[in-house]
Amino acid sequence: MKIDGKPYRTIWVEENGWTVGIFDQTKLPHVFETTHLKTVDDAAHAIQDMLVRGAPLIGATAAYGICLALRKDASDEMLEAAAEKLLATRPTAVNLRWAVQEMIDTVRNLPREKRVIAAYKRAAEICDEDVETCRMIGVHGLSLIEEIARRKQGEPVNVLTHCNAGWLATVDWGTATSPIYQAHDAGIPVHVWVDETRPRNQGAALTAFELGHEEVPHTIIADNAGGHLMQHGQVDLCITGTDRTAANGDVANKIGTYLKALAAADNDVPFYVALPHSTIDWSLDDGFEIPIEERGAEEVTHMTGRAKNGKLVTVDIAAPGSPAANPAFDVTPARLVSGLITERGICEASLEGLLGLYPEMTDDE
Ligand code: MRU
Repeated sequence: MKIDGKPYRTIWVEENGWTVGIFDQTKLPHVFETTHLKTVDDAAHAIQDMLVRGAPLIGATAAYGICLALRKDASDEMLEAAAEKLLATRPTAVNLRWAVQEMIDTVRNLPREKRVIAAYKRAAEICDEDVETCRMIGVHGLSLIEEIARRKQGEPVNVLTHCNAGWLATVDWGTATSPIYQAHDAGIPVHVWVDETRPRNQGAALTAFELGHEEVPHTIIADNAGGHLMQHGQVDLCITGTDRTAANGDVANKIGTYLKALAAADNDVPFYVALPHSTIDWSLDDGFEIPIEERGAEEVTHMTGRAKNGKLVTVDIAAPGSPAANPAFDVTPARLVSGLITERGICEASLEGLLGLYPEMTDDE
């Protein structure tokens, strides 16, 4: 995706061949700043403190975290310790576990002197695969937007999205946003309702930032506005991402997703969820087994933004001394999901639907 007309990925290896570059997403949309990861601790910090976030990008960053650890010490002990450290950073997005396991499988049986090169190669492949996977999610999801566009005969298709499941949450394209970008590129008039997504405002800060730079028409709304817009026929389609999808099609995604799905069901608005294969947790029979991250209360009681003098400031917005709770994800039951958009096509949110697209998992699940 492009920022000021220049295409970027969200993670890359610098010219020295080993340092990993990322954008510090905690400073967006106000400061577009690169930061560098040089150790596995840097990678773990970037994931835990959300300099990078979004399920696929968390996985890609963890993959490079393993590379950085092995570069220092390619022993089995280091591999285990690095994996453990990275897995402890964030509990909900399963792509983290998937990517760490891919890296372990890649290097485990290699002699130490071959591990670093093999690890960087696999991490690069994970990133390249994510780009292609997200592009294909867009190719399949585009058909949903095209169908609505035909019905609306030139009127813009209004898509509502929650959180940031865009370019910044993946290596490129995004999951939920990929069909939107591809519709926009194909000349289909599309307009996006961007849920601000309290408490960290990934919608207002990140989704709006990237849609703006791609010149996709969009409007930021308070999280509470979606139901009203749906009641008034102003939402044609909802597309969100997911951090973990259980084998039965239940989806965990950013807190508030479930309420949007309820409102969509009540108003006959199609509610689709976009995901790569690495987000499916075949080991879980339903979504209520998914661990839900509980984040710090200060994310609810404080807000960070840019003051009139241009400086980034954090202000207290809650009654002093009141406690706050901050569950970061919720689970939307499969019955509220119209379909899952994957790199292999669109399927029903059910075990049968998923196995239809991933038949090789029939014996494994
Ligand atoms: O806490 P975050 O910002 O990592 O949560 C991200 C989301 O909930 C996204 O919508 C989800 O990861 C899908 S990512 C393509």
